[in-house]
Amino acid sequence: MQNLGIAITGSGSATPATSLHNQRLTELVETSDEWITTRTGIRQRRLAQPTESLKSLASEASRQAIAASGIKAEEIDLILLATSTPDDLFGSACQIQAELGAIRAVAFDLTAACSGFIFGLVTAAQYIRTGVYQNVLLIGADILSRWVDWQDRRTCVLFGDGAGAVVLQASKCDRLLGFALKSDGTQNGCLNLPYQATPRELLPGVKVAQGTYQPIDMNGKEVYRFAAQKVPEIIDKALFQANLSVDQIDWLVLHQANQRILDTVAQRLNIPEHKVISNLAHYGNTSAASIPLALDEAVRQGKIKPNDIIATSGFGAGLTWGAAIFQWGR
Ligand code: UT7
Repeated sequence: MQNLGIAITGSGSATPATSLHNQRLTELVETSDEWITTRTGIRQRRLAQPTESLKSLASEASRQAIAASGIKAEEIDLILLATSTPDDLFGSACQIQAELGAIRAVAFDLTAACSGFIFGLVTAAQYIRTGVYQNVLLIGADILSRWVDWQDRRTCVLFGDGAGAVVLQASKCDRLLGFALKSDGTQNGCLNLPYQATPRELLPGVKVAQGTYQPIDMNGKEVYRFAAQKVPEIIDKALFQANLSVDQIDWLVLHQANQRILDTVAQRLNIPEHKVISNLAHYGNTSAASIPLALDEAVRQGKIKPNDIIATSGFGAGLTWGAAIFQWGR
């Protein structure tokens, strides 16, 4: 009989060595360490240097995840790269496949902003549950510092760069216990990294729209309200699907956007503070990387142990949001 269950068997993460403390941001914009810390919980963030790429961060995280899972790169069937900031708009997953020597793997990018890791997890699960693939490498990686307006204090203090990865394997015992995904394009204007074209006439009557992407634009208050309301709801939904109650959760691993959002969601769900994984003080909001980065740190610190039940939720541009409940390990 085929193994159609899913187990998450290894994790890894990588961040740039260069960090920028809140205090240094006061040299760029009118802000203060106190404002950033009290409003967000962020103290510093890592910034990818020009010599670093999404490929290099994602490959490092992947190598660790593959080693932790005990498989070889050649055994990977599928690589999913959740990112909004590829090195190449055609996709960066294939470059990572080549870098890792994952010669058998199909590789492609998936874009769902800060929900990318959760959307990727569920996508990977479908391939495993249908028996198509056995070993999937899922990466969440972003270099948002490329697209931040460093003169805009409303956004530049929030984001950082990083990558996290997990290996999902087909298993007799299904460790993905429940999930739920949502999108609402009517609120798309709340958070964008929009393309802006400058029309150019190629030939009489034939125009093209060449341009570039504009920096991140966010209505922070709206996104905050959305997250505080929708994240507890969707975790509840995923828990219902998993047939679990809130007190059975060992760890809450949320997208690391704002400590106040983490606290509010935990309060609304009645999850005690000691079960909430938080590392945004060190990394800021790393978009698709934030969940696997927090997960990997907690695993390596020995907090998350085999069989622990984890509730995780991502939310962000789209707008998109989703939750997954899974048990760690084989
Ligand atoms: O990953 C994608 C998901 N994104 C999120 O989850 C972000 C969700 N939103 C948030 O986390 C919060 O809304 C922010 C951290 C972005 C902003 O916090 P806030 O408590 O909602 O502040 P605010 O936007 O209401 O701004 C309050 C004041 C304003 O001044 P006035 O109008 O009251 O005079 C801002 O101009 O703070 C000012 N302000 C700042 N002051 C110092 C905004 N940014 C800064 C800053 N330093 N960096």
